[in-house]
Parts: sequence; C-alpha cells; structure tokens
Amino acid sequence: MPASKSSLITLQDTHASSVHLLFSKALELKQKNSLRAAGYETHHSGYKGTAALLFFEPSTRTRFSFESACSRAGYHPLILDGGIGTSLEKGETIEDTIYNIQAIRPDFFVIRCHDHVDLQQIDRKLQVPVINAGWGRKGHPTQALLDALTIVEQSGKIEGKNILFVGDIRHSRVVASHTELAAVLGYHIAFCGPDGFMPLQPVTGAKLFGKIDEALDWADAVIALRVQKERHDNENIFLIEDYRENFGLNAERLQKLRQDVLIMHPGPVNYGVEIETDVLRDSRCKILAQVENGAFLREALIRELFANRGNR
Ligand code: CP
Repeated sequence: MPASKSSLITLQDTHASSVHLLFSKALELKQKNSLRAAGYETHHSGYKGTAALLFFEPSTRTRFSFESACSRAGYHPLILDGGIGTSLEKGETIEDTIYNIQAIRPDFFVIRCHDHVDLQQIDRKLQVPVINAGWGRKGHPTQALLDALTIVEQSGKIEGKNILFVGDIRHSRVVASHTELAAVLGYHIAFCGPDGFMPLQPVTGAKLFGKIDEALDWADAVIALRVQKERHDNENIFLIEDYRENFGLNAERLQKLRQDVLIMHPGPVNYGVEIETDVLRDSRCKILAQVENGAFLREALIRELFANRGNR
C-alpha cells in the first residue's frame, strides 16, 4: 500500500503545479513511446503489481487507454467489463463486487459507475487508490485532464483560453470535471446548446451563448458533446434535425472558424448530429489526438500514484 493514498475522484482539491507536472510527464512518456515504436528504446517497466479496472458502464476509449497505461506502467490489468459473466448477474451488488475484488489485493482501482454508486464512500473504505473513470453525471476527471493536455500541447498553454462546450451540457460529466479544472488552471468556459441541455443550476464563471455563431467567435477551443439519451429520463424530446441545424458543427460553420481554434469531442461521436463526418478531416480537429493523449496522461497518473515507491 502506498505511504499516503492518492485517489482521483474529483479535481476540486488539485493544484495547478501538480497538473502541469502530470502534463510534462505524459508528454515525456509519449515521446519515449514514439522512440520505442521506432526501435530506439526498448526499456519496459517490469511487473509491479495488478490494477482492478472495473467498468460497470460501457467504455471504449477510457477502458482501452487505462488498460494500455497499466501495462506500460507495469501493472497487470484485471478487467470487469459491464459485469457479464460475473456474480453481478446473480444479484451481487456493485459495492460487494468491489470489496470482494479488494480482497484479491490489487494495487489500485479504476472505476466507472452510475451516479447512484457512492464512489466517495467506496474510496474511503478501500485501502488502495481509486481513479474515477467516469462517474454518472458527476465527473470524469481524466477526460478533463486529457482535454487540457491536448490544448496545452496544441496551443502552448491553457491559462486564459476560452473553451466552449456545445451540446448536452446538463448531462455531461466531462463538463462537471472541466468546471473544477478551469478553476485550477485558470481557463474560461462557456456553454451553448438547446435550453433543455443547459445546466439546471448556474455554473460560477461560465458564459452562456444562445447562438452558435457568436459562441464560435468567442472560442479558442470547441468541445462538442454527445447527446446523452441514456441520461435523459425522457425530459428532453427534441428533433435531431433542429439540433443539427442550430448547434451542429459542419463545413459552413468551420469555414467561419479561426484557423487556430481547436475542434474536440470526448467521444463517442454521433456523426451527423453534433459533428458532420467531414469535420474529422479538418486539420483543426483533434479528436484522435485527445484519445492518444489519454493513454499517456493515464500512464503518467498511474506512475504518479506510486511515485514514492520509486516507480516513475
Ligand atoms: N470519452 C470517454 O469516456 O469515452 P468512452 O466512454 O469510450 O470511454
């Protein structure tokens, strides 16, 4: 067990200096990985232990990048993917599942779960670090960190930048984590989308735009969000055509966008709704760069968890 447990459930108590250190480490790991892929570097981390990757909700990017990050950092990933074939199918609870897996002694947990799971309480009960890999609508800290890393990598810095979120703000755990990270790193956030997708409570410091063209003029980076039907509880009935016309990122809107504005999306993308397929071919579109950076950001984070073991 680490001398002091350093879980990542929210970004609220994070310091800018540790975030920048994490970014430097992630970029260094990315560089090392390119050298290794080109045959210049052969060093691998030896076996250091195991990591329990428990995904009680679906995931592609987060799960695969944590899996790859664990392997590169020397932690064998023990994976629960949705619970099929586990005793969840026999009625065992998520909490019991986690406490039983703890008895197998992984070195840390990575957990994705619904809002109704009390991840803070689980973290207090577990003896090893827990990384939040997407917690209902409450937060997705490593996504916000990898987004910010991508902006720093592409634009040189994030402090003072204007980051615009377009779409389903209300149901977005990514926005929840960016709201915390913006306060830590000093960037500005704004929201644009249909009324039914705006936050139910005002978000301190966040600007609101009703019209996409004004919002795009303000932005240094645009993060489009997926329409999250699975979290709607039938409260948002809207026409896809209306959404696409009023808020979709398309070739016409991109023509008016400054050349230095980044186009991003946490994924998965509903092409033809929040983004048209041809946007992917635009050089300002950094969606796959986000995914690539996610793996190195997560590897840096895992190595940082155990820095006091001489494990960096
Ligand atoms: N951005 C993100 O969390 O993607 P996945 O749901 O595929 O992990």
